[in-house]
Amino acid sequence: MIATGEALATKHARYVLTPWMAQANLQPPVIVRGEGIYLYDADGNRYADLTSGLIAVNLGHGHPAVRAAMHAQVDRLCFSPPSWFNDVRAELGEALVQLAPWGAEGGRVFFTTSGASANEDAVKFARVLTGRSKVLAGYRSFHGSGAGSATLTGESRRWFNEPTSVMPGVVHFWAAYPYRSPFFATDPAEETRRALAHVADVVAAENPEAVAAILIEPVIGSNGVIVFPPGYLAGLRALCDAHGILLIFDEVMTGFGRTGAAFGGERFGVVPDLITFAKGVTSGYVPLGGVIVRERLAAAFDGKPLPAGHTYSGHPLAMATGVAALQAYRDDDLYARTKNGIEPRLRAGLERLRDKHEIVGEVRGIGAFFALEFVSDRTTRTPLVPWQGKSLGPMPALFAALKKRGAYMFGRYSVLHIAPPLTITDEQIDEAVATIDAAVGELAAAYGAAKSS
Ligand SMILES: Cc1ncc(COP(=O)(O)O)c(C=O)c1O
Repeated sequence: MIATGEALATKHARYVLTPWMAQANLQPPVIVRGEGIYLYDADGNRYADLTSGLIAVNLGHGHPAVRAAMHAQVDRLCFSPPSWFNDVRAELGEALVQLAPWGAEGGRVFFTTSGASANEDAVKFARVLTGRSKVLAGYRSFHGSGAGSATLTGESRRWFNEPTSVMPGVVHFWAAYPYRSPFFATDPAEETRRALAHVADVVAAENPEAVAAILIEPVIGSNGVIVFPPGYLAGLRALCDAHGILLIFDEVMTGFGRTGAAFGGERFGVVPDLITFAKGVTSGYVPLGGVIVRERLAAAFDGKPLPAGHTYSGHPLAMATGVAALQAYRDDDLYARTKNGIEPRLRAGLERLRDKHEIVGEVRGIGAFFALEFVSDRTTRTPLVPWQGKSLGPMPALFAALKKRGAYMFGRYSVLHIAPPLTITDEQIDEAVATIDAAVGELAAAYGAAKSS
């Protein structure tokens, strides 16, 4: 007899294209239900979702208050023309501006349906507002997989999109990365100085008066969960100010508590001009993204048409979900819980793993946003598998071990992301660390076996 899960998996493989993967021989579980930090497959197996979906489900699965708000909105209104006003859209706009860092100046929100289109629209706004054409973004970055957003992306998922004629004027630079300094720096302060000198050189070489914006994730997300050294983001702000360049923070991953504050910029005390968001705004329950524009820039559109629009911009179901999700973050005090509760406990647990397993080169992170970076040699910091290389070496053994132990996680190359829902309890954090510990042990064994064969 064919198990339920197997029959569904066969149908899925037959009719659905799965993102980023070669389609043959895929065998993931078929997820049918979620509750709290757990996902359940069609065969009844439970998986702790330790990367919050795709670092989106910050409230865990099926938050009751958010579900109730979604039900209520479904019964009332499921579409509203984007060019006419709408009650819940106004409410979510206000709630987002209140979270943004501009105080009395305020701001206004343009809604999209994804992080990718939010970044594309933010760049379009920056170009129209400055009358300049060029945009700088990091090499170690992911800003989306649309034609424009993949051009903004610096890492290898950009390559599918090249040549980049769809969005001319995008220039990439190396941002700070203390563990693997592109600048041969030996300490964080030197990394900050050299990385800022590099980006200043790039701006100078591109003509400062032609640069509309610098776009950056306040903590680099899927390219390694890289926390910038002190002063780096503030230095970018100063560089932008010196040349009339707009600073855009891509808060798609870092927003809504992930770093232990409403936005990542707040955690580092740096104020951007535009913020792009998605994912956590609805805890991933409904597709929603957008751009928050500070008021002095948004006001420029009072006299000229906004150069963007989407059928689903400000969709009422997404708006109601967002209003309820932001309320839930507040009601459960999740930003403070993440900073003061999750961060120290997770850091301590992961540091114990680093001390135990030679294969762990570095633990880094902030809030509920951590990474383990694996190495074949701690002294030389040689990555366990080459970044953006063709082979994943022993890494599949890690993910198999995690799945076997009931954990869903994702990573890239030698980096494992740890980003659980912000609703995770202390006990669940300890269980997660124990699961990762055992799986890292299997990775180390697989690597040892491959080396000695
Ligand atoms: C930092 C960042 N920006 C943008 C995106 C793209 O968002 P979306 O997948 O909603 O288009 C992602 C997706 O993972 C992201 O991590």
